[in-house]
Amino acid sequence: MDFFTVLKKRHSVRLFGDRTVEGEKLQQILEAINRAPSAGNLQAYEVYLVRETQHRTALVKAAGDQEFLAQAPVVLVFCTHAARAADRYQNRGMELYCVQDASIACTYAMLAATALGLSTVWVGAFDEKAVHEIIAAPGDERPVAMLPVGYAAEAPRIRERRDLKDLIHEVQ
Ligand SMILES: Cc1cc2nc3c(=O)[nH]c(=O)nc-3n(C[C@H](O)[C@H](O)[C@H](O)COP(=O)(O)O)c2cc1C
Repeated sequence: MDFFTVLKKRHSVRLFGDRTVEGEKLQQILEAINRAPSAGNLQAYEVYLVRETQHRTALVKAAGDQEFLAQAPVVLVFCTHAARAADRYQNRGMELYCVQDASIACTYAMLAATALGLSTVWVGAFDEKAVHEIIAAPGDERPVAMLPVGYAAEAPRIRERRDLKDLIHEVQ
């Protein structure tokens, strides 16, 4: 799929079917994640792959009953790993770059999934402590985004965007 078509076709989906995500497609998504840029190429983030039903069901509860987290066969959890950015960038690395690194990685995963005919929705509303426990992450990592990946069982709602003239500010 052409890159600009991918951008146009990506919409949040919140109803997934039973069909599993093919291993080859999942691998392509994971490789896309690993191509994402990061501050100083330090990759100050970690990605957790959640496939077990019991864990996905626990994620639903941790995310205020967002049921689609259990419907999608795969959920990727993106965590910051501040320590990886600390030595080189100190506070800016620990407070900002690691969050940006994890967010870009999640964005790459979304776009790769779309290009492969899969659907996703970025999930940011969740109890961080509960998610941290479910994925059994080390203490210094912070979950910042979850991404259920699967085949859509609904036509996505197309959300309007602001006008470019309102959004873009040319600096004179
Ligand atoms: C940081 C962030 C957090 C989000 N959190 C949630 C969430 O917890 N649950 C949800 O259903 N959608 C969530 N979304 C998805 C947005 O609602 C969605 O991207 C937005 O409405 C635009 O729609 P679109 O993705 O179809 O273009 C989140 C998106 C972002 C970028």
